[in-house]
Formats: sequence, C-alpha cells, structure tokens
Amino acid sequence: MTTALITGANRGLGRHFAAELLARGATVYAAARDPQTLDLPGVRPVTLDITDPDAVAAAAALAGDVDLLINNAGISTGAPLLGDLDGVRAEMDVNFWGTLAMVRAFAPVLAANGGGTIVNIASALSWFSAPGAGAYAVSKAANWNMSNALRLELAAQGTQVTSVHLGLADTDMARGIQGPKTDPAVVARRTLDAVEAGDLEVVVDEWSAMVKASLAEDPRAFYDRFLTV
Ligand SMILES: NC(=O)c1ccc[n+]([C@@H]2O[C@H](COP(=O)([O-])OP(=O)(O)OC[C@H]3O[C@@H](n4cnc5c(N)ncnc54)[C@H](OP(=O)(O)O)[C@@H]3O)[C@@H](O)[C@H]2O)c1
Repeated sequence: MTTALITGANRGLGRHFAAELLARGATVYAAARDPQTLDLPGVRPVTLDITDPDAVAAAAALAGDVDLLINNAGISTGAPLLGDLDGVRAEMDVNFWGTLAMVRAFAPVLAANGGGTIVNIASALSWFSAPGAGAYAVSKAANWNMSNALRLELAAQGTQVTSVHLGLADTDMARGIQGPKTDPAVVARRTLDAVEAGDLEVVVDEWSAMVKASLAEDPRAFYDRFLTV
C-alpha cells in the first residue's frame, strides 16, 4: 500500500504519475506550485515550490507517511552555458538543487516508513548535449549522478533510488520540438513497473538506449551530427 508524493503533479508527466498511482491503489500527495491547478480527483493537494526551503520542509512535515517520492518537477529554459547565467542557474536551482532539497527533507520520512523509494526524473540529456540544451543537459547530468550518489548514501536505510531517462515525451516541455514523442502515460507506467521490479535505472525509450550505448564510443561519432557548420 504505497503512499506517494509527486512534485509537479499538476500537468505533464507528473499528472500522469499521479493518475497511474491512483489507478494502482496508492495514496497520492500531488504537489504543485499552485494547488488550484491540480484537477485529479482523489489526490491530497500539497503547495510546493521545490526551490523554496520552507515549502519543502512543510511538505515533509505534512506528508510523513510517504514511502515513494517522485522528483518529477523540472524546467527546460533553452539557456546556453555561454549566455545569461541566470538561465543556467535557474536550471540548476530546480533540476539539481530543488531535487536534492526534496531528497534531504524526505530521507528521514522514507527511513521511518521502512526505506521506501526515490524516483528522480532525469533525461536522455543526462548522457549527451545538444544545441539549445546546454544548461538543461548539465542539470540533468547532475541529477543522474546525484541519484547514483544518493543510492550509496541511502543504502543503509534501505531506500531504493531509481533514475529515469527518456528522450521526448508529449508534454508542454517538448511542445515545438520535432521528433518522436512517447505518450506520458506510457512513461509513467514503464517507470512504475520498473520501480516495482526494483530497477535502479529506467531507460524509457529507444533514443535513450542509443544515447547510453553511444557513451562507449568515440564522442566524435555521436557529435559529428551537431558539428557540421
Ligand atoms: N517532456 C519531455 O520531453 C521530457 C524529456 C526528458 C525529461 N523530462 C523531465 O520530466 C519531468 C516532467 O517534465 P514534463 O515534460 O512533464 O514538463 P512540463 O509539462 O513542463 O511540467 C513541468 C512540471 O514541473 C513543475 N515545476 C517547474 N518548476 C517547479 C518548481 N520550482 N517547483 C515545483 N514544481 C515545478 C511545473 O509546475 P508549474 O505548472 O507550476 O509550472 C510542472 O508541473 C521534468 O523533470 C523534465 O525535465 C521531460
């Protein structure tokens, strides 16, 4: 009988995670910056901006029965690393620091509830970069390796840490980007199936699998597609 908290549960992937968990019989805390935008019946609304330390602490105090934390909230601004640093910092503030703040606040909650599971929604862009994705890719690489480190640091309390990697999913974030997009409902189902199976990493789609495999090759073979000017 899982009790889950999902960040960014008002739309996109987060809303699909909430819906799928409800369908599987879980109790669901749905967290959103603006709780008025939560429209799924049956969830417990939580007001939460993950970059606000007071809000993060209040969420952990409110949802003390959680045994599954899904760190889904994220932003993609398109900021390049050599442009305005505010954009770079914004990506890191949400995708890395905000996610880490959630883990730090909820680790004792998970320990008190038997260990539980943390799911961090990373990206295929944890493993490569592309034009226009400089800051985002760095933040998702940090998110991925944060999962690896947390898995070690939380092993003693029995917390599973699972990192999720996908290419494009059909949500607001990918609007305007060309390419095959996975149905976000499928992303939620594959991820929750993998979590139930005890998997530490979810490679959701073929693109992510190809990107991961490319790390064993000469980077020129991968990056030549972007380097033709
Ligand atoms: N869609 C893709 O192609 C794709 C691919 C790979 C990975 N991902 C990752 O999947 C996750 C979900 O993305 P999505 O596609 O569902 O994007 P989305 O449709 O843009 O939704 C993003 C969600 O994150 C929330 N959020 C943003 N900043 C937040 C903050 N500071 N505190 C709390 N919530 C915040 C948003 O809340 P508001 O409604 O208040 O803005 C929204 O609920 C993200 O981590 C994203 O990086 C997405």
